[in-house]
Amino acid sequence: MKKIFLSMLLFGMALPVFSQEIALLSNVYAREHVLLNGKWNYIVDPLENGYYDYRMQPQTDGFFINKKADPTELVEYNFDTSPIMNVPGDWNTQVESLFFYEGTVWFKKDFTVEKKSATRYILYFGAANYDTKVYVNGQKMGEHIGGYTPFNFDITDAIKSGNNFVIVKVDNKRHRDNVPTVNMDWWNYGGITRDVLLCEVPETYIEDYFFQWNKEKQGSVYGWIKLNQPVANQDITIEIPELKLKQNLKTDASGQAAFELKAKPQLWCPENPKLYDVILASNKEKLNDQIGFRTIQTDGKKLLLNGKQIFLRGICIHEEAPFRSGRAWSDEDAAVLLGWAKEMGCNYVRLAHYPHNEHTIRMAEKMGILVWSEIPVYWTISWSNPDTYANAEHQLHDMIYRDKNRCAVVIWSIANETPHSAERDLFLSKLAKYARSQDDTRLISMAMEITRNDNDKTISMKDNMNEYVDIISFNQYMAWYWGGNMQDWTRATWNIPYNKPVIVSEFGGGCLYGFHGDKTTRFTEENQEALFQCNLEMMERIDGLSGLSPWVLVDFRSPRRQLFGIQDFFNRKGLISDSGNKKKAFFVMQQYYQQKTEQYK
Ligand code: GCU
Repeated sequence: MKKIFLSMLLFGMALPVFSQEIALLSNVYAREHVLLNGKWNYIVDPLENGYYDYRMQPQTDGFFINKKADPTELVEYNFDTSPIMNVPGDWNTQVESLFFYEGTVWFKKDFTVEKKSATRYILYFGAANYDTKVYVNGQKMGEHIGGYTPFNFDITDAIKSGNNFVIVKVDNKRHRDNVPTVNMDWWNYGGITRDVLLCEVPETYIEDYFFQWNKEKQGSVYGWIKLNQPVANQDITIEIPELKLKQNLKTDASGQAAFELKAKPQLWCPENPKLYDVILASNKEKLNDQIGFRTIQTDGKKLLLNGKQIFLRGICIHEEAPFRSGRAWSDEDAAVLLGWAKEMGCNYVRLAHYPHNEHTIRMAEKMGILVWSEIPVYWTISWSNPDTYANAEHQLHDMIYRDKNRCAVVIWSIANETPHSAERDLFLSKLAKYARSQDDTRLISMAMEITRNDNDKTISMKDNMNEYVDIISFNQYMAWYWGGNMQDWTRATWNIPYNKPVIVSEFGGGCLYGFHGDKTTRFTEENQEALFQCNLEMMERIDGLSGLSPWVLVDFRSPRRQLFGIQDFFNRKGLISDSGNKKKAFFVMQQYYQQKTEQYK
C-alpha cells in the first residue's frame, strides 16, 4: 500500500500559475467532447503587431479581442476575412509562403455551446509549437511553452451559451534557452499541430488515475485515482469486467483513492498485445480506458519483458506525415508509420526526438510495438539556465503524465547526443532522478555518444550518466560520419564497461531512393545497403546488445540538408523515401529482424 500512496504523490504536478491552466485531463478522448479540428482563420504576424504596441508593450486590445470595426473605426485586422488553414496542421506545408517561416501566426475558431449547470468546459490542445497563448472571447486563458506536449484550460467562466470564439497566438521562433535549443536536425514545424478538444466534465471529475500490474504478491493490479477537487468520501468504482474485478472506493481528504486487487491478467507483449477494458465511475461520470499489464526490467545486461529476455527490433521515427510530409498527427498517419515498422519486423520504435501524439502511442499499444519516448533535450541545451531546466522538467512531467497508463511505453529518454560537461551532467542527472520519481515502473535512458579510435578500431563508451540510466544507449555512424573503410570497422573492439543492457539508438547513412551506383559512392542505395550490412556485423560483437533502432524509418525534412538534387532539405537516412518507396537497406533490416525473431523465440 505504501508504494501506491507514494506513486499517488508522485504524479502531482507543479503548474505554472496562469489564470485558467489546470492539471491535464487524463484519457481526454474518452471524455464527453467535441473536436475543434477543421478550418481556422489565420493571420501571419512576423512583428507580433497583434500583441505589442509600437513601443513593444503588450496591448490590452490586441488581435485577441477580435474587434469588430464599424466603417468609421480604424481596425487593421479581421479574422473573418482572413485566409483559412487546417488544424491540426503545421503552417509550413499548408502555406507555401510560410515554408521557412519562424514567428507568430494567430488562429481563430468560432464555436457554439449550450452551457449546462454543474458542468466545466475544458479546452484541450494535443500540442502547439512552440510558445502558445490562448484567448476565449477576448479573455486570456493562459499560455504554454513547448512544442510536443498537451495543455488545457478551464474556460467555463469565459464562455456563454450560443456563439463563442477562441483565438490562439503560436510563435515557433527558436531561442537559445528553449527546449530544444536553436539547432536541431528536423523541421521547426509551427502551428496548432495536434487535436483541439472542447471537453465537458462535472464540477467534480476524475482528473487522473494510474493502473499497474505488480508481479510480486502473487500478482495484483494496483494504482490510484485522483479527483480534481480535494473532497473526501466520494464514491468511485473501478471495474475490469474481463478479470471479474470490481471495487468500490472512497476518496480521502485530498480527493484521492488507492486500490490493490488480486489479479492474473494475460500480460501484454508484442506477440499478444492484450488490453483490458477498464471502467472508472463516480456518481457523476463514467470513464473507459483500455489498459495492458506487463513488467519491464533489466537483469545485468539482459532486458526482460514479463521476466523473459527480449531483443528490441527497432527503428527510429520522426513525427513526419507519410507521403505529404509536415507534422503527423492522426490515427491514419500513425497506422502508416507503425505499419511500415511492423513490415520491417519491428517490435519496438524509438519516437525521436520529442513526445509524439497520443494516437501513435495508443496505436503502438494495439499493434504490440514497444516504445521509447523522449523529450527534446537535444544537442547544445543551455545547461546552466534554471528556466531551461524547468522547461525540460515540465515537458518530461507532461510526457510521463499523459502516457503513464500506456503499457507499450517502456523507456523514458531524457536526452539526445548532449556534449559532456559538469553542467550537462548536473542537469541530466537531476532530470533522470525526476523521471524516476514520476514513474518507477519504466526504464530510463538517453542517447549518449561514444568515442572511437580510428587506428585500432576500438569503440568506447564513457559517460558519467551511466549510473543514472537503466539502459546504455548510444548513437554511432560508422563509415558515414566516421572515416575509414566500412569493412575494417566490422572487426571493431567494443569497450562498454557498464553491466547494463545496450541499445544502439541510432546508426545508418543517407541515400536518395532510385539513385544507384557503386557501394562506395555516397547517397546511392548500394552504399546505404552495404553500410547497414557492415553496421549489423559490427554491432553483433557488442556484449549485452539488447536492441537496435536504425536512423530512420522515413526521409524527413531538415533545414540542415541542403545538397540540391539529393537532399533538397530532406534528411535522406530513411529506409523508406518520403514518397513511401522502400530502399534496399529496408530489406537488410527486414532479414536481420527475421533472424533475431527466431533467435529470441
Ligand atoms: C544524430 C541525431 C539525429 C540526426 C542524425 C543525422 O544522431 O540524433 O537527430 O538526424 O544524427 O545526422 O542524420
